Amino acid sequence: MKIAIVTGASSGIGVEFYKEIQKEPLDEVWIIARREERLKDISEKFGVLPTKIIPMDITLQENVKEYIRLLKENDADIRFLINNAGFGVIGELADADFIQQGAMCDLNVRAMTQLTTASLGFMNKGACIINTCSISSFVPNARMTVYSASKAFVMSFTKSLRYELKKRKINVTALCPGPMDTEFLAVAGIKKGVSKTFDKLPRCNPRKSAIGAIKAAKKGRCVYTPKLFYKFYRVIAKILPCPWLLGAAKT
Ligand SMILES: NC(=O)c1ccc[n+]([C@@H]2O[C@H](COP(=O)([O-])OP(=O)(O)OC[C@H]3O[C@@H](n4cnc5c(N)ncnc54)[C@H](OP(=O)(O)O)[C@@H]3O)[C@@H](O)[C@H]2O)c1
Repeated sequence: MKIAIVTGASSGIGVEFYKEIQKEPLDEVWIIARREERLKDISEKFGVLPTKIIPMDITLQENVKEYIRLLKENDADIRFLINNAGFGVIGELADADFIQQGAMCDLNVRAMTQLTTASLGFMNKGACIINTCSISSFVPNARMTVYSASKAFVMSFTKSLRYELKKRKINVTALCPGPMDTEFLAVAGIKKGVSKTFDKLPRCNPRKSAIGAIKAAKKGRCVYTPKLFYKFYRVIAKILPCPWLLGAAKT
């Protein structure tokens, strides 16, 4: 059965990925997040293809095992794996809650790694992996230290895995959006006045970002950065020394 899997599909860009991926020749789309009701509503509202709702916290080991069981049971042929679930928190690390900082690593890094690892045996030639990364991966962001480090992991993981999977003709792409007006901001504690940088930065459109990422992945590209402003930022980040950029990139 040809499937696409979208994690973090209960809100934000995950919903846009769900809507857009249904234009691909698939038998089923699997949507994953913790809030079951939300997933049901989204599938009722936007579902075109048969959709499997998988309400689970992907940071829990038993749920990763259940995910693998579902892949086996359904004889899955994963055409798209969209590792999108993630969250951030703003503030200096010295003032942060160690449990929340650890939970961020658990989701953005460990769960993404485990789900991808578990999925590779169910992927064939022409399949795509899209990892929702961030412009935070270009230069570390003070006051989002762990978040930007987690996205630097996602970028490094994407590039290396992409190299490994070249021989199997499976592509891996990192989507690197700038700020988007999704639930991410409230979860991260970013409201007006909390961060001058966030207040000023241009917003990326979640729908356009999802469409662009799928197109880029199908073309075999490694990184997709929506918006000219952030494409330019990516180039600058490669040229200028990191210590020069840290002040400007501080959230
Ligand atoms: N918005 C931005 O400014 C921005 C910028 C750059 C990159 N990003 C990245 O974009 C991705 C999507 O974020 P978004 O902006 O769409 O934010 P969002 O609306 O808050 O979406 C986050 C999604 O992750 C899911 N999720 C959270 N914890 C989970 C867990 N333990 N297990 C399973 N699912 C979980 C949430 O669903 P449940 O709560 O129902 O579990 C939700 O569907 C993230 O990786 C984020 O880092 C966002």
